[in-house]
Amino acid sequence: MTTVLPHWEQTPDDLGAATREIKAALRERIGASGRTVEEVFSVVEKRVQEAVDDIAAARRRGESVWPVIEYSDIAAGTVTAEQLALLRRRGCLVVRGHFERDQALGWDRDIVEYVEGNHFFENYRGPGDDFFGSVGSKPEIYPIYWSPAQMQARQSERMAAVQAFLNAQWKHESDGVQWFDPARDSLYPDRIRRRPEGADSAGLGTHLDPGTLDLWMTSAYQQAFRHLFDGSVEEYDPWDAAHRTAGPQYPGTTMCSAFRTFQGWTALSDMDHDQGVLHTVPIPEAMAYLMVRPLLPDVPDDDMCGVTVNQVFPAGHKWHAPLMEALTGIPDVRAGDSVWWHCDMIHSVAPVEAQQGWGNVMYIPAAPWCPRNEDYAASVRKAFLTGESPSDFPAEHYEREWPDRFPASALNEIGRRGLGLD
Ligand SMILES: [Fe+2]
Repeated sequence: MTTVLPHWEQTPDDLGAATREIKAALRERIGASGRTVEEVFSVVEKRVQEAVDDIAAARRRGESVWPVIEYSDIAAGTVTAEQLALLRRRGCLVVRGHFERDQALGWDRDIVEYVEGNHFFENYRGPGDDFFGSVGSKPEIYPIYWSPAQMQARQSERMAAVQAFLNAQWKHESDGVQWFDPARDSLYPDRIRRRPEGADSAGLGTHLDPGTLDLWMTSAYQQAFRHLFDGSVEEYDPWDAAHRTAGPQYPGTTMCSAFRTFQGWTALSDMDHDQGVLHTVPIPEAMAYLMVRPLLPDVPDDDMCGVTVNQVFPAGHKWHAPLMEALTGIPDVRAGDSVWWHCDMIHSVAPVEAQQGWGNVMYIPAAPWCPRNEDYAASVRKAFLTGESPSDFPAEHYEREWPDRFPASALNEIGRRGLGLD
């Protein structure tokens, strides 16, 4: 019934040729289903436009576009059906009071003590130095992974409860396969951001992080996105994890080896909504638009709307203008709140001048246990035990000799399970 798609399990040598080949094959496959690319795209366009209109209407009514759920409701299982529906519609969430504010502020202080006590700033050789010379050479992103504060948050009951709640929004079992275990997280180690009062920041343009050309070119992703190309586009479900949790990814400096249901961070300072904060296009189905758009005839045959390997997947006005209308920032957050967004969603960080207050976060996603994350956990265990930077990140290894990094003896059951030590 369907054409066999060419696929590349490793980065193709000739990206242009591979792009031409896969685009032709995807068009042919859509054609074989009895529909045209234009027809399929118009189904996607309509579905996404409804979401864009819904967001505009919510804004006009003065409602928060970002869903907000109290941690206490997640813990008690009292999140309403209405709240769940909004979470699924928008694909993003603020968890209020995920941690006590004092706990989060305490962690922020602990991190400062940890890095200062280990002379991190004196030894920092990071990219900030190239641009700013000696003045203001303190980084905003700290390539620090193993502080007691970060590990306490990662292995806390509260984090596990929210991750399990978020993972459960995905369909994790089908065709007799359990694609991931929603109740067990893999403790994906990531960095810290501490952006000081008065900072000017250029922000970060609209992009997404799930992959690059591999999203069209590997066999696993071709199966994951099968509905977009086999004539059943109406069945595309952005919450279906089928074929997403075991396949390869093309390597690159921006890659994430783990499968994340949601990207996320926990606030370690209060942040107002206009102080250079995270924005998303809160429409999970927009991924269908991003995946099908390059097949339209106005895009050159060797171009995937600007997507290439070793760079983040760009989204923008040139190819995705209707989506950009929906770009929405988070509401004000307080230290201890956490912020989450579906792993396929477009996001950006707004620029800020003379920032008021600090902008401090710990990056902690929801990365449930699955074959991909189990593989990666082996290198995480090694990095944890030796104090190295995890293999998804630059090999900076600042913490190797730091005596007060989080010790294996302080792991609880959640921590051991997440690292695959039990
Ligand atoms: Fe990102």
